[in-house]
Amino acid sequence: MGKVIAIDGPSGSGKTTIAKLIAKELGFGYLDTGALYRAVALVLRNNSIEPEDSDEKLADVLGNTHVTFNNCRVFLNGKDVSEDIRSAMIDHYSSVFSSRKIVRDFLLNAQRDAALNSDLVVEGRDTTTVVFPDAKKKIYLDASIDERAKRRYLQFTKKGINIFMDDSKKNIMDRDSRDASRDIAPLKVAPGALLLDSSNLSIEQVKKKILDFIGIVS
Ligand code: DC
Repeated sequence: MGKVIAIDGPSGSGKTTIAKLIAKELGFGYLDTGALYRAVALVLRNNSIEPEDSDEKLADVLGNTHVTFNNCRVFLNGKDVSEDIRSAMIDHYSSVFSSRKIVRDFLLNAQRDAALNSDLVVEGRDTTTVVFPDAKKKIYLDASIDERAKRRYLQFTKKGINIFMDDSKKNIMDRDSRDASRDIAPLKVAPGALLLDSSNLSIEQVKKKILDFIGIVS
């Protein structure tokens, strides 16, 4: 098992940008667990599965589903779906379907396997608490709701997708409350985690604070 640095936090907190930079700096592999949940939401929706459908229905689809993450790209049964999973629709359904135990169980080993033969920086909602409770270092990255809504708004408009700032804020608040209040593996601060608010920090400042916290990983 490789060394694991785990970073959790709500959407828009800057986890992805920072986790990639830290992985590069340390020469570790990188895993975006949210991308796996997004790919699962995509395959479920492609098969017309509704959030309230039975476990059996979900199991039928998941039984024929293979999700992998490689080189910052996510593959669904061998097809690169890295762009398809970044829609407002999948923002919503990934948060909804990720509260289902059958979905979380389906992805648990895939996440742990990523650290079998490689040192890893991993990011998500429960990577510090459930997936890698023994991670060498744990970080909880946060930012104010207004800052996170602004970041999501800019991400969408940069891609040419028109959304209103108010809608961006509402979407983030809905996902926050769903991701943090679900029964299984809710988003929370793990004991011993560095709690960092990135609202008023540059990416470089956040990176430095995290690298200082990590120190030398032996
Ligand atoms: O990090 P993200 O926004 O791409 O994640 C999409 C959704 O997936 C998020 O709203 C909740 C879910 N998720 C999760 O439940 N557990 C994780 N470790 C990562 C993501």
